[in-house]
Amino acid sequence: MDLRPLLRQASASVQDPETGFTPLHAAIAACSPEDEDTVDGPNQRQNGQLKEETTSDDLEAAVKTVKLLLQNGAIWNDLDNNNETPGCLAHRLGLKELYELMVDAGVRAELLLSRLDEYEQLENSGEEDDEDVTDRDEPDIPEANLETKGVPTEQMNVDVNSEGYLRSELTFQDDKLLDADANGVMMAWEADIMKRTADLLLPKPGLRVLNVGHGLGIIDTYFQSLSPQSHHIIEAHPAVLAKLRRGGWYEKLGVVIHEGRWQDVLPKLVQENLVFDAIYFDTFAEDYKALREFFSEYVIGLLDPQGGGDGSGGRWGFFNGLGADRRICYDVYAKVVELDLSEAGFDTEWEEITVPDLDKSGEWEGVRRKYWVLNKYKLPICRFLD
Ligand SMILES: C[S@@+](CC[C@H](N)C(=O)[O-])C[C@H]1O[C@@H](n2cnc3c(N)ncnc32)[C@H](O)[C@@H]1O
Repeated sequence: MDLRPLLRQASASVQDPETGFTPLHAAIAACSPEDEDTVDGPNQRQNGQLKEETTSDDLEAAVKTVKLLLQNGAIWNDLDNNNETPGCLAHRLGLKELYELMVDAGVRAELLLSRLDEYEQLENSGEEDDEDVTDRDEPDIPEANLETKGVPTEQMNVDVNSEGYLRSELTFQDDKLLDADANGVMMAWEADIMKRTADLLLPKPGLRVLNVGHGLGIIDTYFQSLSPQSHHIIEAHPAVLAKLRRGGWYEKLGVVIHEGRWQDVLPKLVQENLVFDAIYFDTFAEDYKALREFFSEYVIGLLDPQGGGDGSGGRWGFFNGLGADRRICYDVYAKVVELDLSEAGFDTEWEEITVPDLDKSGEWEGVRRKYWVLNKYKLPICRFLD
């Protein structure tokens, strides 16, 4: 059946009231090598007509349909009643090609969204002549494509903002740091990630490192164990600063603590011409825009292009928690950030680290919301492009 005439009359993002399926969900589900339990649940079997396996013809047809729907404004991250985006469904059904198509659609939508956001900021800052900025100049894209729906993360925590967080009371427990609303600011399960990051950033003793966000001090403790020549720490929360003081960090040889937000501290460090062999960024209650500002405005000036101990160039990294409460969002954001990093002049290498089952080990007990649901962490190490 030719979809094109239908798409001329109706939206590509209508939803079935019973299942919440959009045409994208339906196209992907139709290609499933399912048994009755895999797609819609046990009650949805239609006349015993479900297929045993996906043929390459089915897949080809589904790929074509998905592409056509996307070209006609279908939204990549609409949720069905099973709380799945079309990409989640493709992933659950093991349909890799369709999953990748949905990831790429997500990347395009998120990049467009961020460019439009920049454009709006320009508009608001009055750098554009008001008369030139009219609706007619705006690309014709569906409104919902502009939402970062489903992308709350440790950094992009929808109901937490930086100002509120920095004023809030913190609770330090043995294995976690919580804010006043019991949001997990830092948790001990991240220790393996911190250790591996520290080892990759400081491959030998005697290097200069800058860490933004002390938290539980996990990565700073690993950095110390790697005997850096100098170790700068930027921290903004008064309770974390008090803990740094109690822990004797201010007296440690080579350690320099900068009290305040990185947004206020870094311009001074740039002015002082300080450079580092390694930089790490892991803050809380800040959005992706903050991370992008960090690397495009500051890392460029603070990372030594001849550094790294062997002249191969400094390295930097960040806690990669963007979109980590939904697999497809994590994959979309890894690509978005890699593209933005490349635009800012950085090459990124990713290393996968296995994350144990955090539900099983009871990690989330007493924590308001899980910010991590995945079994693999993508660890980024960035250097200047050649
Ligand atoms: C996720 S924790 C860092 C955890 C750390 N990587 C570790 O290994 O324990 C985030 C830290 O960043 C701090 N922070 C949040 N916003 C900040 C900002 N704008 N400038 C500096 N520090 C900030 C928080 O107070 C918190 O201590």
